[in-house]
Amino acid sequence: DTSGKTISCRAAVAWAVGQPLSLEEVQVEPPRAGEVRIKMASTSICGTDARVLKGWLPLPFPLIPGHEGAGTVESVGPGVTSVRSGDLVLTLIIPQCRECQACLHPRGSFCDKQDVLPSSGLMLDGSSRFFCRGHSIYHSFRASTFTEFTVVPEISVAKIPAAAPLDRVCLLSCGVPTGYGAAVHAAQVTPGSTCVVIGLGGVGSAIILGCKVSGAARIIGVDINEDKFPGARKLGVTDVLNPGRLSRPLQEEIQEMTGGGADFVFEAAGLPETLLAAWESCHKSYGTCLAVGLSPDDSKLVLNATPIITGHTLKGVCLGGYKTRDCVPQMVSDYLQGRLDIDPLVTHQLPFAKLQEAMELYRAGKPIRCVLLF
Ligand code: APR
Ligand code: ZN
Repeated sequence: DTSGKTISCRAAVAWAVGQPLSLEEVQVEPPRAGEVRIKMASTSICGTDARVLKGWLPLPFPLIPGHEGAGTVESVGPGVTSVRSGDLVLTLIIPQCRECQACLHPRGSFCDKQDVLPSSGLMLDGSSRFFCRGHSIYHSFRASTFTEFTVVPEISVAKIPAAAPLDRVCLLSCGVPTGYGAAVHAAQVTPGSTCVVIGLGGVGSAIILGCKVSGAARIIGVDINEDKFPGARKLGVTDVLNPGRLSRPLQEEIQEMTGGGADFVFEAAGLPETLLAAWESCHKSYGTCLAVGLSPDDSKLVLNATPIITGHTLKGVCLGGYKTRDCVPQMVSDYLQGRLDIDPLVTHQLPFAKLQEAMELYRAGKPIRCVLLF
């Protein structure tokens, strides 16, 4: 029985910005009040993790990266009531405390207790649970998953059905709800509509699933990496565009293809320039542009002010705009009952020990999602 004791295990530590991840032996302290220690079963690499390592988001180093994960509760700290040892859980970068203004509002979802914008790298009490070679190691988004054991707040844990396959459902921790929820929940894509998805990675692919299930008639997929096109077509994309091969700006091309702009345009590449192109690709009167990708720290979006009044909507959405602890388990049930097929998004699978190889595959733009198994 490990409960109440510090656990030594393997984890990936990023010692500084731009340095390769290093597999280390780390010490993981027991969970304190309101915290949960999880034995990780699987984790996948999300675009945001790669950006953290490049220093595009202001997280303190050294840190244990990763946030898209599934595992089993090893032990819980005092006062934890929603999960117990042995429960299957997903980590959540956006918690649901059920007490803050956002959580209490019917449409709010960006819980005050999140640690994404800004990131302290610490637990809610201001301390860390990870140590390595005598150094305290920061958490990422209070969800560090590139480790055999992690500690997270109870409010950042989604309890999922015992039948859930842990090698798959880690995608439902972040990438799938982020994209799928952007389409079905935040945008509420309408039947017969024309949608555009910019960036066809894990998040963009989940957006396609959401557009498709909502009855979109046309889905235009945009990526600079044409290797992403065949997979996107299988998921339901009807047209593909590579901005690098166009003789004019992407927004002009889409304006013409759609006869004046699309109904719904999703930005899932996480760049201010693609966000501007997305905004200018939606119909000026009734179009909606959804900012789904996380742009680099301090980047700016400069819009012409005059045409703002024409009726279009710009909306930001994080984790699908879902109240996470309520909605993520429901998505797992939908997956188990065959109403949501995430399997095509898992294109690669490797043991956790091959994390370096997985990062190289990611950088080469190969996977939609690569799942690492512990
Ligand atoms: N135009 C179009 N597509 C682009 C561009 C661009 N200028 N730049 C990158 N892309 C594509 C990439 O080729 C890739 O297929 O965007 C896709 C991003 O996918 P992933 O790297 O797999 O990232 P994902 O996990 O899907 O997250 C999407 O959300 O929060 C952010 O940081 C995250 O930027 C990432 C985005
Ligand atoms: Zn809250």
